[in-house]
Formats: sequence, C-alpha cells, structure tokens
Amino acid sequence: MSDKLIIFDTTLRDGEQSPGASMTRDEKVRIAKALERMHVDVIEAGFPIASPGDFESVQAVANVIKDSTICGLARALDKDIDRAGEALKGANSGRIHTFIATSPIHMEHKLRMSSDQVVEQAVRAVKRARQYTDDVEFSAEDAGRSELDFLCRIFEAVIDAGATTINIPDTVGYNVPQQFGEMVGKVIEGTPNSDKAIFSVHCHNDLGLAVANSLSAVMHGARQVECTINGLGERAGNASLEEIVMAVRTRGDVFDCSLTHIETTEIVPTSRLVSGITGFAVQPNKAIVGANAFAHESGIHQDGVLKSRETYEIMRAEDVGWSANRMVLGKHSGRNAFRTRMHELGIEFASEELVNEAFARFKDLADKKHEIFDEDLQSLVTEANLQTLQEKVKLISLKVCSETGETPKADITITVDGQEQQGTASGGGPVDATFRAIESIVSSGTELQLYSVNNITSGTDAQGEVTVRLQQAGRIVNGQGADTDIVIASAKAYLNALNKIMLPAERAHPQAADV
Ligand code: KIV
Ligand code: ZN
Repeated sequence: MSDKLIIFDTTLRDGEQSPGASMTRDEKVRIAKALERMHVDVIEAGFPIASPGDFESVQAVANVIKDSTICGLARALDKDIDRAGEALKGANSGRIHTFIATSPIHMEHKLRMSSDQVVEQAVRAVKRARQYTDDVEFSAEDAGRSELDFLCRIFEAVIDAGATTINIPDTVGYNVPQQFGEMVGKVIEGTPNSDKAIFSVHCHNDLGLAVANSLSAVMHGARQVECTINGLGERAGNASLEEIVMAVRTRGDVFDCSLTHIETTEIVPTSRLVSGITGFAVQPNKAIVGANAFAHESGIHQDGVLKSRETYEIMRAEDVGWSANRMVLGKHSGRNAFRTRMHELGIEFASEELVNEAFARFKDLADKKHEIFDEDLQSLVTEANLQTLQEKVKLISLKVCSETGETPKADITITVDGQEQQGTASGGGPVDATFRAIESIVSSGTELQLYSVNNITSGTDAQGEVTVRLQQAGRIVNGQGADTDIVIASAKAYLNALNKIMLPAERAHPQAADV
C-alpha cells in the first residue's frame, strides 16, 4: 500500500476550541491562506451553526480558498448540516463533516440514545449532507473508547449512506500508540465496505501521545490525519501538523504512504502566524517550530554539525521555513511594494482608505525598526483588526517611570466609551504598574492568568508581541498587543483582553450540546 496521506487541518475549528484562542473572520482567512500556500488538503474552517460569526468565517474561507477543500463541522442534526451546506456554497471543493458519539459512556450519559438510534441518526445525517456535497466525512466521536464491533457496524452503514471519509477520533486522548494503531487496522479490516472510504484519525494530546497515536494509525492504514498548527486544540491540544508532516517526510522508510505535496517551507511562517493571532506562544523546545528546535548549543554537537550536518541534524532548518525570516521591506519601500507583499501574504484591503491607513502604520514602524519582515506585516494587520473590534476601552497615552532603586510608576490615559480618563499606579515593575493603572480606572474584576512577551523577529529593535489572558466568571480571553516598546505592547494587550471580555459570548460548543 503506497498512497497519499491526506493532511486535514483543524486549527480553525478544534484549534479555536482552546480557551481564549478565538479568531476573527479575517484572521481565519489569513490562516487559511497560509494553509493553502502549504498545500494542506483539507481545511476545517469552523462549526457554522455555533454562531453567526462562525458561519460567516466558514463562508469567507470557502469563498476565498481555491486549492484546498474547505470543511464545515455539523452534529448529526438536520439544522447543523443545512447550516454547514449553506456556509460552504461558495467553495470550489466543500466537505461536510458530521459526527455523533459512539462510546457506551457518551451514548448513555450524553446522548441518552440506544446504539440503534445512533446508527439511524448517523445514516440520516450523512444522507442529508450528501444533498449538499459528494464529499462527506463521518466521525464517531470518542471512537477511542468505543466498541470495535459497533464502530464497524456504524461505519458500514454510513459508507452505504454516502460517507467518503471515516474518521476515528481519540476524543479524550486516552489511547496509546500500539493499541490505537491496531484498533484502526482492525476497524478497517472489519468494515465490509472499507475500500469505499478513506480512513482518518483525529487524536487529542491528553497523554502527550496525539502524534504517536496518529502515526501508529497511519502504519495501520489510516490515510488522513487531522491535526493543527502548533498542536493547538481543546485541553492539551490536537496532533501537531508540523510533527506529523515532518515525521512522515523524514522517515519515509517506515511509512507506506507519500506526503510530497506539502510545502514544508511554509511551516514556520504559518506557526508564527497562528501563535501571533491566537496569543498561544510556542515553547522553545517544541519540535520543528520551537526556537531551539535547530539550535545546536553544546560544543560537541556544533563541532559535529560543522563537519557534517548529518551527524546531528535529521532535517534541515530551511526545509521547514526557518530561513523565511528575511527582510522584505524597509524604510524606503513604497506603497506598491507594501501592497504587493501584503497581497502575497493573502492580506487584502477593502478600500483605498484602509491601504493608506495600513501604509501609514507601516511607515511608522519602519521609522523605529529599519528592517521589516513578513511577521511584522502580519502583526500590523493583527493590530489593525484589534482596533476594529468594538473598543470600549482604548489607549490614548502612557508614561512609565522605571529607575534603579525606585518603585515603577505608570500614568495612563484611556478612553472608556469615548470618555477620556486618567489613572496612576505604582507596581512591582513597569508592566505591573501599567496594569494597575488601567484597573484603577476600569475595576474589571478579571483575574490575570497569563502574561507573555515574544519578540516577533530577532534583534533588540524587534517588536514585542504581548499576550494577556484574563478570566472572568469562567470565561477566558486572550488579548494581544505589539509594539517596539514592550510596556506599550503590554498596555495594548491588556486593553484588548478587556475589550474581548466585555463582548457577549454567544457561540455553542460542538461537543457540549446534547444531540
Ligand atoms: O475530538 C473529537 O472527537 C472531535 C470531533 C468533532 C471530530 O473534534
Ligand atoms: Zn477534537
């Protein structure tokens, strides 16, 4: 068996289910464009029934992306499937992904349905989805804890009903590699019409085994892997796309399938784009995309690598896009060069006025920072998008005094519902003083859960990208801000998080709602 391994990316759907990782429609389109440049086969763009915003995002991605299949998630319910079908109307190639739980624990406690009822509902859902598209995926939620015979039975029925991809999710990340791979092999073998569908896996990382389980399944016949950039996803996340792709590419000797179509040099830029947009930083020692992934610290390693790369390197940094961090524009670049590069990055402007605004921000940045990289351009757009969010609170000015032996003090002016207000506070450091000064005005009652700073590019003149995670009554949001001054970036990130937490949360979670 040697055939193509299909890469199904669910960063925009399961990735977005990470608390605080929600993305706007435009951000989703930018990530989808990056995935298309990477030649990802299927992009799961969202769960259209979840909210009007989710519907519009799937619709926007479906209208813009031409080379990848665009997928919308739907529970096995008529209204979900109709909504997904509607959102995918503009797609060149659209897929409906419908699912229902199949494990005894989910059927009994969540669905309160018998196994016969579950099969019947799954078949009905697939038939309805086929009215919209020939490309229908069926997932048996919690397949990892389902009975093998039941999986074979429901899969046979949904393939007969028209499902073309059968997905086996380890929804709760419970499985271990050898057992999971064998189970996938047995399911394929035990499903009489399995030759009429592609078998897929979707693994969560609760035991840190999502990638290992997915690869084991590939060794047992799975030909689609569902994964996310940076392993983003519910709880401990999903299998990471970059690890799956590079494992299969690097160890082609042990995998009986090909993955030559993926443009691996897009991996690092896409990883950065996703972490910049979601505020989920990548740990330095993360495989493939972590800052240290190709850094050879010890003298012995360096010596070996200098003499012959293969002594310690199994992949080349440039093959996954590490060299992509190059200067693209500078202080003297004109409006056309700016617009052309933005277009190449998939960033379009709705009007000339918006081009002018973005170009003015670019010129401002180029004055402070002479070399402008793609990452800086992406962050300019993220900043602009943040400003189009309904802004209840907005930064006007900030003055911070920080001196050896003195307590840092911040004076801030912000607008709250358009009214200018000032606050002053001291704190353990300049950032602490700034956040306290903001709180002296807004008294938000939120709890700060995370504060992190990353440099967008290298060098001391790089922009700092700050993420602030706030929690209020169980709801979590991430705020972002970027600036060459990290205290200002921090203030922007804190205010961005406050603006998000003040918006009503109106979206449904696919797995929480009972069918
Ligand atoms: O983890 C899961 O089971 C899912 C399904 C909706 C495929 O995300
Ligand atoms: Zn999932």
